[in-house]
Amino acid sequence: MRSEFPILSRRVHGGKPLVYLDNAATTQKPSVVIDAISEFYRHHNANVHRAGHVLGAEVTSMFEDARRVVAESIGATAEEIIFTRGTTESLNLLASTLSARFTGGNARRNVVITEMEHHANIVPWQMLRERTGAELRVIPVLDDGSLDMARAEELIDESTGVVSVVHVSNTLGTTNEVARLAELARRVGAVSIVDAAQSVSSAEVDVAAIGCDALVFSGHKVYGPMGIGVAFIRRELLDTLPPYQGGGSMITSVSFEKTTYAEGPLRFEAGTPNIEGAIGLGTALAWRNALDMRAVVAHKQDLTDRLVGGLQRRDGVNVHGRHQGHSGIVSFSLGGVHPQDLGLLLDAHGVAVRTGHHCTMPLTQRYSSNGSIRVSAAVYSSVDEVEMFFSALDRACAVLR
Ligand SMILES: Cc1ncc(COP(=O)(O)O)c(C=O)c1O
Repeated sequence: MRSEFPILSRRVHGGKPLVYLDNAATTQKPSVVIDAISEFYRHHNANVHRAGHVLGAEVTSMFEDARRVVAESIGATAEEIIFTRGTTESLNLLASTLSARFTGGNARRNVVITEMEHHANIVPWQMLRERTGAELRVIPVLDDGSLDMARAEELIDESTGVVSVVHVSNTLGTTNEVARLAELARRVGAVSIVDAAQSVSSAEVDVAAIGCDALVFSGHKVYGPMGIGVAFIRRELLDTLPPYQGGGSMITSVSFEKTTYAEGPLRFEAGTPNIEGAIGLGTALAWRNALDMRAVVAHKQDLTDRLVGGLQRRDGVNVHGRHQGHSGIVSFSLGGVHPQDLGLLLDAHGVAVRTGHHCTMPLTQRYSSNGSIRVSAAVYSSVDEVEMFFSALDRACAVLR
């Protein structure tokens, strides 16, 4: 598989093999995805849903094929898939279009999120709070890195309008009980949203099995291009939501007196979309769908066990959270060592990891005020790379301590 990813054979810093363990930030792209984007511009480039000419017709059918692949990949239908710029825009779209639930006669009064959310699933709800006065309730994380589900049951009540939770934490690697949380939301008539940015790349994610109303993710974290993402919204809910942005493509008719809006996902796709991004994402998901997911899960579990085990055997290392499950994401801190210093030394050995707060400031600061070092594997990550990481870690520690 590694040979399908051209960048993985790169050498850095005077000939050292690149050991790319920053996959939670973004994944690398297989040749099929790179070629699909290049092929789009070389042979097809035209606008979508507009032109009657041959290129326009080809591009529209490629774009809508990509929507179908995305839908099939997560157990949805194409009419439930909105293309966005990424997880962040998808969550902003939802927070914006769901605002009306928090105002007026039957207003709901709170949004429930968790302590382990990415900033993309915190800030849009704080902005909604500023607009509507809604309360933000936060399900706490226990010391082992799991969610306090007993507290979740108390916090989600009849006054809750939205429950928005991360599937796999980008910092701790914890896999949350999203089906259970969606069930708690459903019981009180709240909208359930799952941030699947870190799960779609290497797990079966099925919106029907989860039972959520909405699910969001980014193309660039699932071996696809940047600047493209997805908001799945259950059709019955989608039909009730007002538009997000106004412009071309999202209308059926416009006059100065009155405009009528398009039905389905197009109502939320104003303007020229990221067409090559959508085509690249469809290609990436088709590539992912052809993998043996059971083998992927077992491989990621093996890498996770090696990472956690190796870290726990070293003096002064504090592994954050419990890291069960196959997420391949492990964060840690090292007594007396600033994460950034360690990150720089690892980089000098060709090892790319992430240091800092990982856009989860409230969570990371709970474990370590300086942030942490995060190692994250992808399907193409190898046991050799884990060993090279540990060898670089030991050499860096010998310098720093
Ligand atoms: C769990 C999670 N949610 C949301 C995001 C935001 O994704 P994007 O920057 O692609 O919009 C990320 C990215 O790191 C993430 O890991």
